[in-house]
Amino acid sequence: MGIVAAAGSGLRLGADRPKALVPLAGRPLVRWAVDALRAGGVRDVVVVVPAEERPAFAAVLPDDVVLVDGGATRTASVRAGLAAAGERADVVLVHDAARPLTPPDVVARVIEALAAGARAVVPVLPVVDTTVVVRADGVISGALPREELRRVQTPQGFDRATLVDAYGRLPAGVELTDDAAVVHTIGVPVATVAGDERAAKVTVGHDLELAELQVRR
Ligand code: CTP
Ligand code: MG
Repeated sequence: MGIVAAAGSGLRLGADRPKALVPLAGRPLVRWAVDALRAGGVRDVVVVVPAEERPAFAAVLPDDVVLVDGGATRTASVRAGLAAAGERADVVLVHDAARPLTPPDVVARVIEALAAGARAVVPVLPVVDTTVVVRADGVISGALPREELRRVQTPQGFDRATLVDAYGRLPAGVELTDDAAVVHTIGVPVATVAGDERAAKVTVGHDLELAELQVRR
């Protein structure tokens, strides 16, 4: 089953509505994200939404999607989604509404890795730029070995019981930016599959412009 985290406000995008409701080629980002999961083989989907916006989300999503109120942080929102997911499925894919154009192949690769026995799997991409550490005063203090670095995308796949266990043991107040980081805290190995540049996250206005170009192709 799938959980789509869509309860953020999108401060960096700065639109007139929550980011997940911002249209891309006429369809809200959250709708693209749900459709992407389904195209890749996920059937049951829980979407975590800002509580006060529930009707607006219901209006743009398929009737069979379950809506859940989110929290103040992504970690809190995924926790809520997991609780609502119940024990219906053995595996769960957690996806960001902010990655609307994720190709079905990426979803399928994550599902395959789980079927092959991985307890946690994330799609990743290589880092192409030289990557450095910069001190508070703006001066470079060192470089990172680019060959070992990867950029992490979603959907991230998990054995459901493992993810529930990891969230259960995560101390309240600890906020992590993705779910692989949560299972990593309990020592579960996280496998990787190839991500895709088209699964890029919409964070700022420029990302939305790129996504519009991608759709037009
Ligand atoms: N998210 C969520 N609940 C939150 C915060 C974020 O479900 N309290 C979701 C967002 O809706 C998004 C994903 O987590 O799909 C990734 O977060 P991000 O790109 O940071 O989105 P926002 O938090 O909405 O944007 P910003 O940080 O610019 O405010
Ligand atoms: Mg955020």
